[in-house]
Amino acid sequence: MFVKNLLPAFLAIGSVAAQSGCTFSTTTINSQAEATELASCRTVKGTVVVGSKSGADIDLTGPREITGDLIIRKNSQLENFHSSTLESVGGKFEITNAIKILTLNFPKLTSVDEIEWVTLTALNSLTLGPLNRAKSIRLSDTSLQDLDAFSLSSVSNLKLDNNARLTKYSSDLSTLEGQLIIQANGLNLEVDLPKLIWANEMAIANVTKFSIPQLQVVNGSARFDSNFFETFSAPNLTHTEKGDISFVGNGYLNNMTFPKLTDINGGLLVANNTGLDRVTFFPKLQRVTGAIKLRGNFTEIKFPELSIVKGAVDVSSTADIKKSCDKLSESAPREQGGDGSFEGVFSCTANNDKANEDTDGSTSDSGQVDSGDEDDENSASGVALNAALFGLVAVAAFASAL
Ligand SMILES: *[C@@H]1O[C@H](CO)[C@@H](O)[C@H](O)[C@H]1NC(C)=O
Ligand SMILES: *[C@@H]1O[C@H](CO)[C@@H](O)[C@H](O)[C@H]1NC(C)=O
Ligand SMILES: *[C@@H]1O[C@H](CO)[C@@H](O)[C@H](O)[C@H]1NC(C)=O
Ligand SMILES: *[C@@H]1O[C@H](CO)[C@@H](O)[C@H](O)[C@H]1NC(C)=O
Ligand SMILES: *[C@@H]1O[C@H](CO)[C@@H](O)[C@H](O)[C@H]1NC(C)=O
Ligand SMILES: *[C@@H]1O[C@H](CO)[C@@H](O)[C@H](O)[C@H]1NC(C)=O
Repeated sequence: MFVKNLLPAFLAIGSVAAQSGCTFSTTTINSQAEATELASCRTVKGTVVVGSKSGADIDLTGPREITGDLIIRKNSQLENFHSSTLESVGGKFEITNAIKILTLNFPKLTSVDEIEWVTLTALNSLTLGPLNRAKSIRLSDTSLQDLDAFSLSSVSNLKLDNNARLTKYSSDLSTLEGQLIIQANGLNLEVDLPKLIWANEMAIANVTKFSIPQLQVVNGSARFDSNFFETFSAPNLTHTEKGDISFVGNGYLNNMTFPKLTDINGGLLVANNTGLDRVTFFPKLQRVTGAIKLRGNFTEIKFPELSIVKGAVDVSSTADIKKSCDKLSESAPREQGGDGSFEGVFSCTANNDKANEDTDGSTSDSGQVDSGDEDDENSASGVALNAALFGLVAVAAFASAL
């Protein structure tokens, strides 16, 4: 209706085509006719909302820029949303709960501050500039099969979840400042990040392949849960700066490679990856500032260079790892008869049938895991990521308190 109010101003100028900037705080489009009223604005200064009575098709051709947000919420009419001119959205491009949308066609759109598209269950055709600038992207519960419409070299946060038909994601991302969360997409999702050099937080679940050949640094934590890959390789990873590495419940995993990893400035958790029969793939690991917790069907555990673990070292296997336990015990705290390389409590048990049932990042003794002050209003997986981190840090705190 703001559009209607403004219309006389357009007419007063005499030529609709002469309009270059139209200013609104928020304008709501509820029909194609209302969308067409914006066609003469080269820049829309403000926020555009597509209302729930939009009809099936909206063509927003005309504006090149929207300085505010572009928002669609709870719309069960819109099927095709299009603009052949829109190049940038200064704020958030949000679409939530628009279950009839099949097509989003914005062939000039290259820049958006933030994309949040959630519950667009029918969306299967997406055309963007491609989009090469965005701070944050969340795509959840769509029918997209690929993400070729995006061409990002850096992003802060990227969350891809519940896109049941998504089976490949390949991106030239080189840095990731915030969180990368990938979970519950197509069952055979293959993720290739050939140029990724550093990433802050990663939580990767249910993928069949995860390739990070150049990754050198994980600034925060990297967590891999319930994936389907048989091997995992981080050929260039040297350290985490402030966080854990964790692999839990990756049922097909049988080998990993970390040839350059020297430091984990956090904890290491490897649990319930039942096909993994040894942990011998950390040839250079020297220092772990959190705890190490290993649970699985291991027959052999070896950390040839490990000389400092600040937290507990807690190992348990369903199989006979007595030899590995004996060797590891040489590094146990002095109170436990070792050389003190492990500063926290050392524990190693063999033939434990229940070894795979304990996948928790913390020990039962550490009562201080509850970090309610961390008011992270992120997704469930963001919280899980932090819980894992605090879990292992708490183990370390508990251990050093002894
Ligand atoms: C992550 O680590 C890299 C390499 O040390 C550094 O250049 C980058 O600024 C760090 N990023 C964040 C978000 O801390
Ligand atoms: C590690 O990174 C270097 C330099 O970026 C690259 O040349 C090399 O191929 C990478 N290693 C692997 C195993 O991909
Ligand atoms: C996907 O991963 C989640 C989180 O780890 C897990 O709870 C769920 O069981 C997995 N789903 C499948 C089909 O593996
Ligand atoms: C262990 O992983 C398997 C999948 O490989 C899963 O079905 C099971 O629930 C997991 N157990 C625990 C205790 O997490
Ligand atoms: C694990 O993978 C590495 C590197 O690809 C390889 O050298 C090693 O032999 C593999 N180990 C097992 C037990 O398959
Ligand atoms: C892992 O060990 C458990 C308990 O011994 C056993 O039931 C399971 O078959 C083993 N899994 C694999 C893949 O070896």
